[in-house]
Formats: sequence, structure tokens, C-alpha cells
Amino acid sequence: MPTFPDDFLWGVSTAAWQIEGSVAEGRGESIWDRFARRGLVNGGETGEPAADHFRRWREDVALMTDLGLGDGRGAYRFSVAWPRVQPEGKGKANPSGLDFYDRLADALAEAGIRPMPCLYHWDLPQALEHRGGWTHRDIAHRFADYACRVAERLGDRVDTWFMLNEPSVHAWFGHLTGDHAPGRTGTAAFLSALHNQNRAVAEAIRALRREGDWRLGTINAVVPFQPADDTASAAEAAEVLDAWWNGAFLDPLVTGRYPERIAERLADPESGVVVEDDLDRLAVGLDVLGVNHYHRGWAFPDRGAPLGVDFRAAPPGADPRRLTAMGWLIDETGLADALKRAQAAVGDKTPLIVTETGAAFEDRPDGEGRFRDARRVEFLERYLDAAAGAIADGIRLEGFFAWSLLDNLEWAFGTSRRFGLVHVDFATGERTPKDSFRWYRSAVRKERL
Ligand code: FCB
Repeated sequence: MPTFPDDFLWGVSTAAWQIEGSVAEGRGESIWDRFARRGLVNGGETGEPAADHFRRWREDVALMTDLGLGDGRGAYRFSVAWPRVQPEGKGKANPSGLDFYDRLADALAEAGIRPMPCLYHWDLPQALEHRGGWTHRDIAHRFADYACRVAERLGDRVDTWFMLNEPSVHAWFGHLTGDHAPGRTGTAAFLSALHNQNRAVAEAIRALRREGDWRLGTINAVVPFQPADDTASAAEAAEVLDAWWNGAFLDPLVTGRYPERIAERLADPESGVVVEDDLDRLAVGLDVLGVNHYHRGWAFPDRGAPLGVDFRAAPPGADPRRLTAMGWLIDETGLADALKRAQAAVGDKTPLIVTETGAAFEDRPDGEGRFRDARRVEFLERYLDAAAGAIADGIRLEGFFAWSLLDNLEWAFGTSRRFGLVHVDFATGERTPKDSFRWYRSAVRKERL
């Protein structure tokens, strides 16, 4: 087991739409509810019941305590569902929606688990989507307003807020390829979703800074890209993808500039994406950056793709034994490179937290109903080793959060992909900790195995 500093922050991560269920319980429709209603989630699944966390949250806090995150040792990164707080995406906050997170924050505080909420994990109120969603400039102000309403209610128990989860994934899959909600496609939607998400982060950080002295950050999916083959065009594709995927969501918040390779495209007056003093307003700086990392990207040119480039999460001909159930190559050196990439972008002074990493496998119970998920244990062991190595190399890594506490709805894959340390029977809601849960507990408690 690698060693970590005494104050290293251990945690687990979840997201509202993936675990909560109770989608009509005083909450508005989200773009993922609508996407599911259109039959676009595997097996026709919907956000109901998911892991039924909205009703079983006490059990889940108890699981985190059992995991060793209590007594000031650890943290829980969850997301607040915007359509619970503002069912129509604007106006007065819905008190019963906020009550849910209020009770959760209280229970966490009581258990000594630090609540670290993320304000948006892809579940936009459908009412805002009708008005253009992330392609409409007004969204940045809507988001800042929503952020302040949540902070007003929970802010006395929260020290660190994260703004958005993985805007690159949301822009790319939700607005370019259409594989995720809201299912928009094409470069125009992509460019505006990209820029408006950055504007939302910046506007919300500005607004929250006026309201309190929290640590304010955001969460990016950081993918180290490399060429899929040894052609010059694949090498070029890797650089272009690094700009669209990583730089586009890191640089402007720090420097007020987009990476050179993509700046012109965004500034094109025809597209009208970046206007007036937008860039100046983006450079708010981050107090902390959440880094989500699962895999490297193997880049190649693709004439048919809207941006002319595409990537895979494993190299051509990869050994299937090294792949997770998502087809992603297990390679912990990718985490070290992602952390280096992120630290270089935000500067030495900004701490990083691994806010998500983990793996899906086909878990099956043995005769006694025990989930011996040895491959997930090995995955976590390797990625934790890489995290410890990064600290030794001078990266300011403050914490590590496993994805995920619970098996959940893996977006368009539905419940067919399980990432949890805890198995969930989606028919009954029953929770069963897997071997990886016990292994992670020993890591948190610094026990030798
Ligand atoms: C990330 C998402 C998270 C989960 C993992 C597997 O991109 O942030 O919700 O789906 O992938």
C-alpha cells in the first residue's frame, strides 16, 4: 500500500441522476429524464429508481462511515440536482428540494464526513433546455443564480464547492455527437456549449466569491492524448484533441485565453460564440481543481467527424484482459500524466483532487453472495500507486475519490455498467459491499493488507 500524507483526503463520488431516483418527488424534469423517455438509455431504462438514494440516503451515509470516511478522515463528493432546487431552472428555490441536501449535509457533518458538492453533473432542467440550454448565453447567469441559492442554504456546512462536472464530456457527447443528453449534434452546438459552460463556471465563481469565503473550483475530465498510430496526421489529431478536450476547459479560467489551435474557431465573429469582454471575464482563477481520470485517448483524424478528429479509450489491438467493461485500457500512468497536464495548466499553487477514478467490471456474486471484485481492487491499487507517485513528483494532490460509492445508472449504458464499491440490486435497492469496499477501507485506514 503506498503511503500518503496524514492530511490526505479520502473520498467517494456519486452524481444525482445516477443514484437518486424519485425523479418526480417535487423535482422538475431534467434533460436526462427526457433523453431516457425518448428511449435513448440502454434497455429503455430511466432515472427511476436508479439506486434509490433519495429514499435510502441514511443507509448510504452509514456505508460511508463504515468505509472509514467519518471522524474527519474523509469526504463525500455528490452532486446537487438543479431541477430539484429550481424545477423550472429559475426563480425561487423549491424548499423541499433543498431540504433533501440540507438533511444530507447535516448527516454528513454529524458523521464527520466533509460534504463536497458539485453543483452540476449534467442534469439540466429540461425547461432551460427548451430555451436553448447550454447553447444560450443566458445559461451562465442562470447557473450563477442557482449556485448562490444552493450555497445560501448549505454553505455553513460546506467549505469547498465544485461548479461543473466534466464540461468536455458534456459538450462533446451531449452537444456534438448526441450520445448523451440533451442529444444535440454539430459544431455550432458544441462550440457554444463549450464556451457557455466556461462562462457559467466563471460567473458562478464570481457570484459565490461575493457571498462567502469558500474554496471554489470545478471538475474536469483530463485525458492525456497520444497518436493512435505513427502517422503525422494522428500526431496532429492528438494535439488538436488536447486543445479541444483539456486546454479548452483549463486555460481560459486561468489565463483568459483559449489554446491557440482552437482560439480562432471560437472567436470567429460568424459563429458569434465569444463576444466582447467574454475572455477577460473567464479568468477568475480556481482555488482547487477536481481531476477525473479513467483512460488515455488514442487520437486519429476522421474526415467524417464534425471536428475532423476522434479518439478511442484503448489502442488498436489492445489485450482484452487489460480492458474494463467500458473497453477502457487500464493504465495508471495515464493518471500521472493527467495530473501533470492539469497542474501545468492551473499552476503550482492550485491544489488538485482526483475527484473520480474507478472501473466497471461484470461483478458476479459467489455461492455465498459475496462480490470478489479482484479486478477492481487491482485497478484501485494501481491508480492509488500512481497518485502517490504523483505526489512524490511534486504534484499538489490533496485527495483521492473513488468512483463510485454505489453501482448506478451509467448514463446511456443504464445499469449495465457497474462501477460501485457497493453492489446495488436495482430491483430491491439492497446494498452489498464488494471486496473493493473492504480494500478501500483498509487504504483509508492505512492498514496493511
Ligand atoms: C465520468 C462521469 C461519471 C461516471 C464516470 C464513469 O465521465 O463524470 O458520472 O459516469 O465517468
